[in-house]
Amino acid sequence: MWTKKDIPDLTGKTAIVTGANTGLGYETALALFEAGAKVILACRTIEKSAQTLQRLSLMPGKGAVETGQLDLSSLRSVKQFCTIFLQQHGKLDILINNAGVANLPESKTSEGYELQFGVNFLGHFALTGYLYPLLKVTSGSRVVTLSSMGYEAGSLDFENLRSEKDYDPLREYRQSKLANLLFSLELDRKILAKKDRVLSIAAQPGANNTDLMRHSTAEEIAMGKKRIGDFMEPAQGALSSLYAAVSDEARGGNLYQPDQGFSGYPALAVLKEKALDRIAAARLWQLAEGVTGIQYP
Ligand SMILES: NC(=O)c1ccc[n+]([C@@H]2O[C@H](COP(=O)([O-])OP(=O)(O)OC[C@H]3O[C@@H](n4cnc5c(N)ncnc54)[C@H](OP(=O)(O)O)[C@@H]3O)[C@@H](O)[C@H]2O)c1
Repeated sequence: MWTKKDIPDLTGKTAIVTGANTGLGYETALALFEAGAKVILACRTIEKSAQTLQRLSLMPGKGAVETGQLDLSSLRSVKQFCTIFLQQHGKLDILINNAGVANLPESKTSEGYELQFGVNFLGHFALTGYLYPLLKVTSGSRVVTLSSMGYEAGSLDFENLRSEKDYDPLREYRQSKLANLLFSLELDRKILAKKDRVLSIAAQPGANNTDLMRHSTAEEIAMGKKRIGDFMEPAQGALSSLYAAVSDEARGGNLYQPDQGFSGYPALAVLKEKALDRIAAARLWQLAEGVTGIQYP
């Protein structure tokens, strides 16, 4: 059973965690900070990141904490965050693509894409791309991207990415989480082809008590718990991301998740058919390159 106690000393490491002000992102940032890393809290609101910095400063961590403003629903904001980060930092050991939105009323990114697809996938595609040159020159660097069990029920509808046809919040969430996983695996293949040394690893955290379902009714949440069982606290769910980010056993191109799927401790997941669709992954990558104007690795 891999737990927080297994995290090695991270003194000298620099990590970015998106959506670090709450839920899984907060717990991930806390654990990295406790282990000695310099952690950049990449959050969409300055107030929340300042409060989180304050909260972490009161913890007995060995590391350091900084904040950066990052709104993944705007490619301009992603570029601005990266420009500032690259000016101020000479290395990036760990990038955790954690932030996410789920099950919300129909909304769009600044570029007009459906918000869940835009924030969860497109924003992180751009973020990783802008930061890739620094990841590439940082020895042993890793990109961890969060997916969800929901990917298995997801599918990509390339004709409806701006909700041209219709909108279904749960369907679009699953689509975004499938996109996150396809992205992580395609990035790994591209990195290997280039013989770069960066690891691209996917993680799914199981079912956790966080603010993710903030747009769902109490009834919807109760139904989810009836189907899945009790949710974990995010400190436990964050272990999948942490394992992917720091364990010597973690490998690029893998997905790590709780050993019982929705609950438990980090284990290697068996990838389902949806994740292995290389044609969809390549098409998704090409689309993201076109939308963001960034080509990498
Ligand atoms: N909780 C689960 O059971 C579960 C299961 C499977 C996968 N996941 C995945 O785990 C990740 C973290 O989710 P969570 O459960 O910790 O949810 P959460 O508590 O709602 O946290 C989500 C974080 O993402 C941030 N965020 C939202 N929109 C953003 C934007 N446009 N730009 C930058 N940051 C933004 C939020 O910021 P604000 O606080 O400002 O809104 C918040 O910090 C997500 O990718 C989610 O899909 C969670």
